[in-house]
Order: sequence, then structure tokens, then C-alpha cells
Amino acid sequence: MKENSTKEKLLTWLEENRDVYFSGEDLATALDISRTAVWKAIKTLQAEGYPIDAITNKGYRLAAHADILSVQGIRKYLRRELQDAPICLLPQTTSTNTVLREKAAELPQWSVVLSGLQTAGRGRRGRIFYSPPGTGIYMSVLLRPSACEATETVHITTMAAVAVCEAVEETAGVDAQIKWVNDVFVRGKKVCGILTDGAFGMESGLLEYAVLGMGINVYEPEGGFPEELRSVAGAVFDAPASDVKNKLAATVLNKLYTIYTEQNKQYAEAYRKRSMAVGKQIMVLREKESKCAVALAIDEECRLRVRYEDGTEETLQAGEISIRL
Ligand code: BTN
Repeated sequence: MKENSTKEKLLTWLEENRDVYFSGEDLATALDISRTAVWKAIKTLQAEGYPIDAITNKGYRLAAHADILSVQGIRKYLRRELQDAPICLLPQTTSTNTVLREKAAELPQWSVVLSGLQTAGRGRRGRIFYSPPGTGIYMSVLLRPSACEATETVHITTMAAVAVCEAVEETAGVDAQIKWVNDVFVRGKKVCGILTDGAFGMESGLLEYAVLGMGINVYEPEGGFPEELRSVAGAVFDAPASDVKNKLAATVLNKLYTIYTEQNKQYAEAYRKRSMAVGKQIMVLREKESKCAVALAIDEECRLRVRYEDGTEETLQAGEISIRL
């Protein structure tokens, strides 16, 4: 997962010097490669969709307003501790969670697989996660928590929900809320779904690794969301913005790193503060029957306390709810 080819060196240079024109000769000297190699790499990058301007007598540049995912662009915003994290950006894939799971055994913690298009994006409860090209970030991260019991894996998801909210707020300047347990909402619409896959040791019963998948709708797809999603799905940005995909992806990782490595429950307060459900009439969704309830509170473990219509109360560790309007 190392990026050190000519093409990647060139992209790193252009990312670090956005909006500045360089002649082919300047680039060849700076990167210690031939002018032909520069030209070939530029052509390849352009064919891959990188908006590199080529102007006679000026040279080449990556426009400041370009908003395209790249490993180099993400690294630019990553915190020091994650600079060496293996990051694999796939132009398109089935599902980043599936791909990362297949490679998990040989990869270190904080390995990342991401893509701007999934053909078989997976959601919770066996649903399909709509992952159209060019408008979203579909990203999976490998985590190896120590001595993590099955009941604690939900914390990975709740930590991720807080990390996404904080990153969205910092990058887009909008408030983000959480619909228990792990949907992130902006302006009343779902902008991010989170799915954590895990592998458990047969003997220990402990989590060996978790693949934490986050799907963020950065922009609304051209032509809008499909009819069946239209009332629920939204996007973080309502207009094109410059270089926000790389920044958002990196900021999610940075925030997650802080929350995850602090290994304390302080983030639960940040989670509670953003909860949309508390005080509302909800439906607790179950495989067989769904039940009406009132969401009473979220506790320090991010569990949801509910009261059903018959007056009985329950603390939910994980699951899914819908908020009744
Ligand atoms: C949900 O809302 O039901 C969860 C959606 C999770 C989607 C993300 S996108 C990246 C990763 N790869 C997948 O196939 N799913 C997760």
C-alpha cells in the first residue's frame, strides 16, 4: 500500500503546491525524473480524473478548487501519528469493508481502504448502502482493540459517530447530530452511515479486529438521491467546495484516533450532546416486531434508555430506532 511511483510523487508535489503552475522541466528537476516521465504521469492522472490544468507557456497545476480524493491529498491533512498508516484508494470497488476484511490478517491497525464509488456498498441489517460515483467518501479502517468483548464492539461505532460529527462540523461548519446508534444527520437528513464488521477469536471470544466502515454523502448526487431515499438522505455540503473530500476523510481519521487512543469515556458526553432521539417518540426496530417507545436518555456507555407504551423500561445496547414525527 505504498505510494511512491512517479505518478504518486507528481501528485504529492501538485497537492502540496495547489494552484501553482510548474513547467514540465521544473517538475522533472524537482522530482528527479525525465520530462517524458512527467508528461506520461500527467496524462495518466488526467485520465484517472484528476483535474490537472495544462496551459501552454505556463505549465501544469492542480487547481485550488479541485475536490478529488487522493491519498496524497488526505495525507496533507493527517495528524503526525497517522502519517505512515497504509492507505489504499480504489477508483471503484465492491465494498471497502469487504476488501479490507479480506486483507485484514496481513495489515496493521489503522490501515485504510477508501473509494469514491462502491458497487456493492453494505449497510446495516443486510441493506444496500447507496454509494454513487464522485459525491461520497466510502472509507473503512482496520482497528485491533485489545481485550474487547463482543458487547463492547458497539463502542467502536459510537466513537466513529462522534468522530464523523466533529469532522463534519470542523470541515463544513454545520451542526451534526446522531440518531442512535450510529447515523449522522445534518439539516435533518442522514449524511453518514456506519457499519462495523468484526472477527472474533474462537477460543478467547475476544475481538481480533474490527473493520469500521463509514459512508459519507459529501454532496448530493447529480439528479438527486433515488426516490426511496429522498426523504431521508442528505449531504454534508449543499454546494461544491474546494478540497473538502480529502480534508473530511483525514479529519474523520484524526478525530477517531484521538477518541480511540484516549480510551476513556469522555467522548460519550460529545455523543449525548448530539443525540437526536432523547425526549422523542420512537420506534424500536426489531427483526420480527417493532415497538413504540419514548427515548428517555443516553447513558455514559452510549446505551439508549427507553420506555415502552406499557410502561416497561429497557436499556438498549445496540440496535436500530426510527424517530416518529
Ligand atoms: C448504514 O447506514 O446502514 C451503514 C452504512 C455503512 C456504509 C459504509 S461505506 C464504507 C463501508 N463499506 C461498506 O460496504 N459499508 C460501509
